[in-house]
Amino acid sequence: MIINNLFLKEWVEEIEKLCTPKNVYLCDGSQAEYDKLCEEMVEAGTFIRLNSEKRPNSFLARSHPSDVARVEDRTFICTSQEQDVGPTNNWSDIGSMKNKLDNLFKGCMAGRTMYVIPFSMGPLNSPISHIGIQISDSPYVVVNQRIMTRMGKEVLDILGEKNNFIKCMHSVGMPLEVNQPDISWPCAPNPEDKYIVHFPEDRSIWSYGSGYGGNALLGKKCFALRIASKMANEEGWLAEHMLILGLESPQGETTYVGAAFPSACGKTNLAMMMPPEGFEGWKVKTVGDDIAWIKPNQDGKFRAINPEAGFFGVAPGTSYSTNPNAMEMLKNNCIFTNVALTDDGDVWWEGMDGDPPIHAIDWQGNDWSPDSDVKAAHPNARFTVPSSQCPSLDKDWENPAGVTIEAFIFGGRLSKTFPLVYESFNWDHGIFMASTMGSEATAAAINQASIRRDPFAMLPFCGYNMAKHWRHWLDLGHKYTENSPKIFRVNWFRKDSNGNFIWPGFGENMRVLKWIVDRVKGKVSAKSNSFGLVPYFDDIIWSGLEFDSEKFSSLIEVPKNEGLKEIDEVKEHFDRFGEFMPNELESQRIELEQRLHKEG
Ligand code: OXD
Ligand code: MN
Repeated sequence: MIINNLFLKEWVEEIEKLCTPKNVYLCDGSQAEYDKLCEEMVEAGTFIRLNSEKRPNSFLARSHPSDVARVEDRTFICTSQEQDVGPTNNWSDIGSMKNKLDNLFKGCMAGRTMYVIPFSMGPLNSPISHIGIQISDSPYVVVNQRIMTRMGKEVLDILGEKNNFIKCMHSVGMPLEVNQPDISWPCAPNPEDKYIVHFPEDRSIWSYGSGYGGNALLGKKCFALRIASKMANEEGWLAEHMLILGLESPQGETTYVGAAFPSACGKTNLAMMMPPEGFEGWKVKTVGDDIAWIKPNQDGKFRAINPEAGFFGVAPGTSYSTNPNAMEMLKNNCIFTNVALTDDGDVWWEGMDGDPPIHAIDWQGNDWSPDSDVKAAHPNARFTVPSSQCPSLDKDWENPAGVTIEAFIFGGRLSKTFPLVYESFNWDHGIFMASTMGSEATAAAINQASIRRDPFAMLPFCGYNMAKHWRHWLDLGHKYTENSPKIFRVNWFRKDSNGNFIWPGFGENMRVLKWIVDRVKGKVSAKSNSFGLVPYFDDIIWSGLEFDSEKFSSLIEVPKNEGLKEIDEVKEHFDRFGEFMPNELESQRIELEQRLHKEG
């Protein structure tokens, strides 16, 4: 394969000169190429082929212990003006960062192959999709990108002569001297040597020193969220940290919702949920588990696609009881990273069904038994799997026009104050609910805010000033009033006075989703409390679950003193954004305070 696009050709030549790889390889995205790279990684010790009867065509990779997660404190957004990134991002000046990167990348691919990976975020024929080209010296990245994106030759055909591709530059940051043997997971082990850098103004990404997840699979968080959120802001659409699911009624009518939760709140489980007893005939259909690109169309309908083609999910905690669909989709063609290896060549992680194995090899390659005082799988161990293997995948998941979102759901992990579910009074109130969301700070110190705010679940992913992101959402709702989705907050994590979760969660969340559908379709009324519109007990389907109205009230009510504490904390949160703070949101805060006083 040769590169015909002159812009791409020029960029690849420039990068080759800078990084001095052993050779350059343009990826065609074929199965044969994938198989060959996997085999090469088996030979190099990066991959272990799993038992081909138990887990056909699947591999295990173990990362370097220093390279196990996204590195938020090494993530930078570089813009002409610091205020463009706001108080929640690490800013760096463009010129000095470019100098630093130039030095880091000089000769960084010595002894390695430089892969050129054309990929599309979103279906190939969708007007909502965008093309990226990732250059990487990691074959692990290539095979993961083939699962997570539409990758290869067709993308170059669609790109044609155009230069509107996002440049995604990646190196593991470990050049090889002549005759220096490679290691199974090359990276720059020192945290300060890792850089995940975004230049939204020229729409490029430079990532150095890590081979793991969102640090290295640049289509995901770097492009589809940080860069895309900025593009979306300029162009009138939305790039959000949201799962997309469809709720299909027994009559075959599907209602799609976009739902944003902070990392590690079970988005993948919710996206693939199995409806519980009492919901015969209902189906949950998966469109995506992590990212949504949403564009209002001519009718003002919010049309959403999942820009990804695979799931890069957290393995520990995934089981037939928490996510049976995920367990089914993980039966073959998967890449597992940092899970444990069983003696029969299969994988295992904490929380999997059944008894733990008597013996396994842990994620660091050491002998492990249930008596060991370390975990067998790293808590952030992952699976990479094609979406097409998900049993609950929606028929429209690749519809180039997207699916129409009728409700946005925002949630966090909060043990008190916040109702199980509430609907906003109007669009601006919904944006207030999303801009103030978050999860309980763990081990919060005295005088410290009790909630770690994660507005729109975009705290680590918004590529520009978060307050401008709120402005953008407010403006979109004001522009498209007729078909704009309803907005809800949910909280599955409220606890009783003994510290026990009141709500069973998982599949039972269907009861809440069904109420949301009924609200969207105008089938049920709701009652107001200070925080928003909450369900009447009788409007939730309870069959198959014992839950009385008193318990339900304890999930819904907002104690006045707790509500007022929230008001004060929100003020502090908003104050950080100074002059960029939209007035509408401060008005919402004051109105909430007034409602609390009136009720009370
Ligand atoms: C993820 C995250 O990996 O949000 O999806 O951290
Ligand atoms: Mn995520």
